[in-house]
Amino acid sequence: MIAIGSDHGGYALKEEIVKYLKEQNIDYKDIGCYSEESCDYPQYGKAVAQLVASGECEKGILICGTGIGISIAANKVKGIRAALCHDCFSAQAAREHNNANILAMGARVIGPGLAIKIVETFLATDFSNDERHVRRISQIEE
Ligand code: RB5
Repeated sequence: MIAIGSDHGGYALKEEIVKYLKEQNIDYKDIGCYSEESCDYPQYGKAVAQLVASGECEKGILICGTGIGISIAANKVKGIRAALCHDCFSAQAAREHNNANILAMGARVIGPGLAIKIVETFLATDFSNDERHVRRISQIEE
């Protein structure tokens, strides 16, 4: 199960990604927002982060205007490694090296075509489990 959320700045892109998840038969939980009416990104970042940290959802996707605020908010939740990615190379590395459990993107930075490729890459890439990466992630947790 994928948790997905956005603020108003990310709403339109979230809808595109939800459409993609539906088409791919990927289960998701859309925690909002549900319109372009102005709202505050921290609450959506926190809600998706809590679903992932609790294990209720395996991974998360967060979108705001830049992806910056919502990723900062998500990373305040223990156990969350939210990676802000605007290219497929970073999305792949975020999974292989950092075992990122949330993908954050900025809807005012990239278009829907690239965003969906990034989602595909993020969801399809496994953590490498290399000792050095496991060690570094443990250091973050400490
Ligand atoms: C909202 O205008 C905007 O500040 C927000 O979507 C995001 O870019 C914050 O980091």
